[in-house]
Amino acid sequence: MKSSVLLLIATAAAATSPASPAREVTFYRDIAPIVYQNCAPCHRPGESAPFSLLGFEDAKRHAAQIADVTKRRFMPPWLPEPGHGDFQEERRLTDEQIRLIQDWVKQGAQAGPAADAPAPPKFSSEWKLGQPDMILHVAKPYELYADGPEVFWNFVLPVPVTAARWVKAMEIRPGNARVFHHANVILDRSGSAKRKEVQPGAGFPGMDLTVEEHTFDPDGFFLSWKPGSAPVVEPDGMAWHADPGMDLVLNVHLRPSGKREIVSPEIGLYFTDKPQTKFPMLLELEHDGALDIPAGDRDFVSSDDFQVPLDLNVLAVYPHAHYLCKLMEGYATLPDGSRKWLIRIPNWDLNWQGVYNYKQPVFLPKGTVISMRYHYDNSSDNPRNPNNPPKRVRNGNEALDEMGDLWLQVLPVGDQDQRAVLQEAVTKRRLEKYPADFVANFDMGDLLLNQDNATAAIAYFERASLAQPASPLAASELGVALVEASRLPEAQVQFKRALQLDPRYTDARYNLASEEATSGDWADAAADFKEVLAEKPDNAKARQHLGEVLFLWGDDLAKSGDDNQAVLRYRDALAYRANDPELHTSLGMALARVNQLKEAQAEFEAAVRIDPNFEPAKQALAAIQK
Ligand code: HEC
Repeated sequence: MKSSVLLLIATAAAATSPASPAREVTFYRDIAPIVYQNCAPCHRPGESAPFSLLGFEDAKRHAAQIADVTKRRFMPPWLPEPGHGDFQEERRLTDEQIRLIQDWVKQGAQAGPAADAPAPPKFSSEWKLGQPDMILHVAKPYELYADGPEVFWNFVLPVPVTAARWVKAMEIRPGNARVFHHANVILDRSGSAKRKEVQPGAGFPGMDLTVEEHTFDPDGFFLSWKPGSAPVVEPDGMAWHADPGMDLVLNVHLRPSGKREIVSPEIGLYFTDKPQTKFPMLLELEHDGALDIPAGDRDFVSSDDFQVPLDLNVLAVYPHAHYLCKLMEGYATLPDGSRKWLIRIPNWDLNWQGVYNYKQPVFLPKGTVISMRYHYDNSSDNPRNPNNPPKRVRNGNEALDEMGDLWLQVLPVGDQDQRAVLQEAVTKRRLEKYPADFVANFDMGDLLLNQDNATAAIAYFERASLAQPASPLAASELGVALVEASRLPEAQVQFKRALQLDPRYTDARYNLASEEATSGDWADAAADFKEVLAEKPDNAKARQHLGEVLFLWGDDLAKSGDDNQAVLRYRDALAYRANDPELHTSLGMALARVNQLKEAQAEFEAAVRIDPNFEPAKQALAAIQK
């Protein structure tokens, strides 16, 4: 009886303070579970960390270092401050675990009985999600020098699908994890990344990348890779679409390893037949236009606020800045005034940037204000300051420029696709920040045009055109708005300007042809539709309109008494609408008027063959046969 009471007390003591000095800490029993779970995903052969931590010998060799880096919380790398967002895959040691490691090292880093060891973690060099449905390879591997500054490189990978496919997961394989620090994938449906390559497949440098999109299809997904993280499988209904002609741009952050390395990443795509039914969107808070950090400034703040126009859930967050940023704060102020933290990073380090997925979606009701406050230290006290002595730093995409983004993946509450509502609020906010900005004005113009408010849209397209006078897109859209507002001559000027800027811009030529047709300018309209068809032979709408224009042109000529010319136009028109009984009949009438009765009869017969009930043709046929 007595002894069992004692035993109970002893167990309780061990539970409350397992690391009391009296207790011996051994690798196999106490340390291996910590290391296998928190270190081995990166500290193993072929991964990013400089040495393996898969066994006792490895750990013992680095014992002092391990004690040091874990105590300083330098390892495992984990930037977010606890209590400011609850993230999946959180890789952070507890105070208890840190103390265990300290004690283990102090006690001489003993192995202990191997029988105590947990099963070693299993890692496979295969695709983590199984064999992909499609594997994309880079056309030209990147050769990274042995020593030198970090490199930011963009690979452009065409997606060889012949029909649109739904993608439920993507796995990025770095090919050379030793030098691969971080990677983002951007979907490019506009071909704009490809145009930045000097040679097709060559890739191009740059830390950040903006893709010009001119269709309203905001991509709502973070596609990224960071060391030791598992690939993300999108939940049901949240697949994204890969379209023919689309490119994936793989933006990678490479760190030289001391020897020359070849970097040849691959991307695996996993398809599903379940289409997208939930439409998330990426929301960006930033104020890079105001980033101008004086040399020596210890606390420069970049801030942005955005009021959400509908109920939504935040699914993930991706904070981004370059070297000078120290403290990042992202939070939401709810309509009742309370604050919800989205993320707080007290000691930003670009090397460990990544996307963080929330364990549970963070609900933000309509009217919530999301805020970003980023603090930059451009003094020489900042050990990461790349400039010594410090220099004035402004915003830009290169490593020595600065940026400050708080990207959020948000999913509006409700069944419908509500991205347009969000997009409108984003555009309005952008216009507040940058009244003369091309994108903001262009998007606002598009929004108003979609809402059938062409008169209001015109002013925005004009400002967009002013911001980028060389943009054929802005000129053409301005033209479209002018047409809608019945200002045809001005519209024509804009379409012609767009074509001067880019003679191969078929959309502008199509718009010009349509405008000319509306103005009754048949000859020009016909010539321009013909050119559209020469460039895009399978443009069905252009064929149809061309047939119409030629028919109407013929009618006009007939009305003015020029039947010979009318016959020619009608015959032209037949090439585009051979099955139109009305056209055959009009042609027949004109032929009859110039006394080509046989040909006229043939046309009436053709009309009746196409439509036996077509009265005008039947009557004309009866008359001519008399
Ligand atoms: C996400 C990947 C990752 C994880 C997880 C990780 N490490 Fe590391 N570790 C690295 C990389 C990469 C380096 C190389 C240094 C660098 O890039 O800054 C490194 C370097 C180190 C170093 C050398 C530090 C120096 O100053 O040279 C030690 C020691 C270390 N890690 C221990 C650990 C321990 C212990 C754990 C687990 C508790 C751990 N690491 C978890 C990636 C990781």
